[in-house]
Amino acid sequence: MRTRRFFIWTLACLALIGILAAVSFSRQPVTIHARIAEDGGFMPDSIKARVGEPLKLRLISDDVEHTFALGQSPMQPVVFKPGEPVNITLTFDKPGTYTFYTTTPSSLNFWRMRGVIEVTGDTASQAAEPPLYVRLGLDLDGEHESDEEHAELLNQPSAERGAVFVNQVPEIMLTPDYYISHSPMETFEELRDDPALQMLNDQDIWDVVAYIWTQNTTSAALINGEKLYQVNCAACHGENGAGDGQFADEMKAIAEKNNDEHGIQAPTDFTDAEHLLEAKPAVLQGLLLRGGMGTGMPMWGTIFTDEETWDLVAFLYSFQFEYQGVNQ
Ligand code: HEC
Repeated sequence: MRTRRFFIWTLACLALIGILAAVSFSRQPVTIHARIAEDGGFMPDSIKARVGEPLKLRLISDDVEHTFALGQSPMQPVVFKPGEPVNITLTFDKPGTYTFYTTTPSSLNFWRMRGVIEVTGDTASQAAEPPLYVRLGLDLDGEHESDEEHAELLNQPSAERGAVFVNQVPEIMLTPDYYISHSPMETFEELRDDPALQMLNDQDIWDVVAYIWTQNTTSAALINGEKLYQVNCAACHGENGAGDGQFADEMKAIAEKNNDEHGIQAPTDFTDAEHLLEAKPAVLQGLLLRGGMGTGMPMWGTIFTDEETWDLVAFLYSFQFEYQGVNQ
């Protein structure tokens, strides 16, 4: 009898210990180790979570300072250093595949440091609609190559000066549909050929183009675009867009050595009119979403929201156009 009671007690205790262990285990954070991309990046780089259930992560750096940034979310990037692990808790309200990545330029391949969190829930994740460049049938790899001569301008095109001529601009050119599907160069040429604008000189016409471009963004969008740019793009494209970020020289040297148009390239210089003035907004957005497929330009489609990509595109054109002075 006594042995039996002892046995039951032992079983009960073991069960209790088991339950406690299970509960505390489920509360244990998932540990993510980070090393520079060349040494493995984020480990593990694939994590599962459920909608509404807190996901605890313990971030440990094995070498240098890194960040943990989460795409498609308002979360601010979290910095963690060697010897100083950081715990964070994420909760997702929608199912889907979320990309985490670093914003610290820890090495040449820092942008390859990415991982995914697969979040499942009771509702199905929404099927994404195809990106705009696909819907418009644009060829991202040949759209804005052109050998045309660019008009030499004395002044940077200014939206404020262009605003003066707005009544002479055909209304259709002020619509968002026009903006997304025309490059500044095409817009310039169309305006230049318009008999109603014959009185304007080339500089005036470029000012009108700058004005049309400002009408398709807002100052809040430009501020957001600049913030995203400085965090995610400046390491390659440079703070001032001149293609001279901290990795630019190294990438340029690789490009020159390999001489392969599908391999690593020097980061684009956005202050050079050739690229931006020839590029339709939908193409820039497409390049941003898809990335350069081996050129060293990362793909951002899984990271930014649609709105963020348009904010970035609008901000990129500000390397060519003077937007100041126009009320938005
Ligand atoms: C790791 C370096 C790197 C980072 C970071 C990077 N880029 Fe790039 N980017 C490149 C390289 C290299 C090219 C040129 C090769 C190509 O077009 O694929 C390029 C090209 C581009 C182009 C195409 C330009 C054109 O006219 O053909 C756009 C647009 C662009 N980058 C935007 C961005 C934005 C916006 C960000 C930040 C969200 C960003 N890039 C971050 C390296 C980078």
